[in-house]
Amino acid sequence: MYILEAKNLTFKYDNHNYILDNLSFNIQKNELISIVGGSGCGKSTIIKILAGIEKDFNGIVQLKSTSYMPQSDTLLPWRTILENILLPIEIKKGDKKKESEKAKSLLKRFNLLEYSNNYPKELSGGMKQRISLIRTIMSDSDLLLLDEPFSALDAITREDLQNWLLNTVSILNKSMIFITHDIDEAIFLSHRIFVCQKKPLSKFKEFFVPKNITLEEKLKLRKEILSIIKGDDFYEKN
Ligand SMILES: Nc1ncnc2c1ncn2[C@@H]1O[C@H](COP(=O)(O)OP(=O)(O)O)[C@@H](O)[C@H]1O
Ligand SMILES: [Mg+2]
Repeated sequence: MYILEAKNLTFKYDNHNYILDNLSFNIQKNELISIVGGSGCGKSTIIKILAGIEKDFNGIVQLKSTSYMPQSDTLLPWRTILENILLPIEIKKGDKKKESEKAKSLLKRFNLLEYSNNYPKELSGGMKQRISLIRTIMSDSDLLLLDEPFSALDAITREDLQNWLLNTVSILNKSMIFITHDIDEAIFLSHRIFVCQKKPLSKFKEFFVPKNITLEEKLKLRKEILSIIKGDDFYEKN
């Protein structure tokens, strides 16, 4: 069963060159997908189309709903953690009381409840990122769209949050599209990796990540992905 079907997506920003040219891909329920590729290849654009932010594209996107975390998602410094989490609900004029209970139960589940009334500046970078993720997860939609959520974090915090995210998506039974330019992060977090090839993007090069991947397999996979991103085999393949 597909949770997302994208067919023949074609897109350009006005007066610019095409970024997507008939790109198609599908995602199954509970699948964790990463998209990797060089800067400017169109990763954020794809996710914005799926999130319904870029509407001016050709092609078909079939999905129920998504929850989207932008590339530079920031908490508002003048609102408490709980108020920050409830911001999208306020904007949508949802049931604030009910959602506030839900937010608190998520905060509790992830050992962050004691920070509900703190302000962002009182939290570490890793904690703030967890809060942004909880805000994204709050929505009932099954498909999470996360645009480089860990890129600003140090290596240790990052590893910690990767584990946290894997655990969270599995507990909450979500599917995910995760954008990163870190190949190891993509291998760690995903069932399948979509690699951007030349521009305009018409087809991802796709890799399945074996379940209990060995170090040897991991090094081989990383090398293959890197060579595509760097375009080493551009003339061979095209
Ligand atoms: N609002 C915009 N208007 C014009 N060009 C844009 C806009 N947003 C992104 N671009 C361009 O589109 C291309 C793809 O951008 P983006 O999807 O952000 O790439 P990525 O996330 O892979 O780094 C880049 O060349 C970028 O400069
Ligand atoms: Mg981007």
